[in-house]
Amino acid sequence: MCLEDALKKSKLIQNIQNDSIYGKLVNDILDEAEVGVHKTQHNLRKRQGWIFITSPDGTTPYHRDQESAHYFHIQGKKTFWLWRVSDRKVVTQEENEFFHGVYGLSKTKYQEACMDNAFEFHIQPGDGVFFPYTAPHMVQSGNEEFSISFSVTHMTDEDFAIRRVYKINQLLRKLGIAPRDQGESRVVDSLKLALH
Ligand SMILES: [Fe+2]
Repeated sequence: MCLEDALKKSKLIQNIQNDSIYGKLVNDILDEAEVGVHKTQHNLRKRQGWIFITSPDGTTPYHRDQESAHYFHIQGKKTFWLWRVSDRKVVTQEENEFFHGVYGLSKTKYQEACMDNAFEFHIQPGDGVFFPYTAPHMVQSGNEEFSISFSVTHMTDEDFAIRRVYKINQLLRKLGIAPRDQGESRVVDSLKLALH
């Protein structure tokens, strides 16, 4: 029986970092990545590994994830659309507050008008894509064969700080205060983190 017959439809194998062999691979990749980003990002943690097996023509709708991802493509073809999380036409301040505040996606909506702002990647086996922390994306698989990809995800100290500022901003907004957006002022962000 071939892989396609065995699977019949798309599958996500998660938490492969708990396997001894895949766990070493996940850590080796992230240890190497950590060396390359040590000036701006620290303490790569919440380390996880995922295997995506996607049926021909499979789609992953527009969404955001709670971490950064190093995505390695193994079989088939895929098209990715990726947006900057700092693009306020695509991701509003209030959507960010909700997303980080309750870890919810109900305010994360695809907008046709934002396609002009997307980065489009056509990937083949051997290609890779890096997804910055919480950057919106969607995926379309090719129609010829099953696609197989491997992804390693993580968060850093800086990511946790961003999340905390948005959570604080959500609380402030509930109190009737219009908070300054995360990233607008380092001083204000630091004060929020120190006082909370
Ligand atoms: Fe994703």
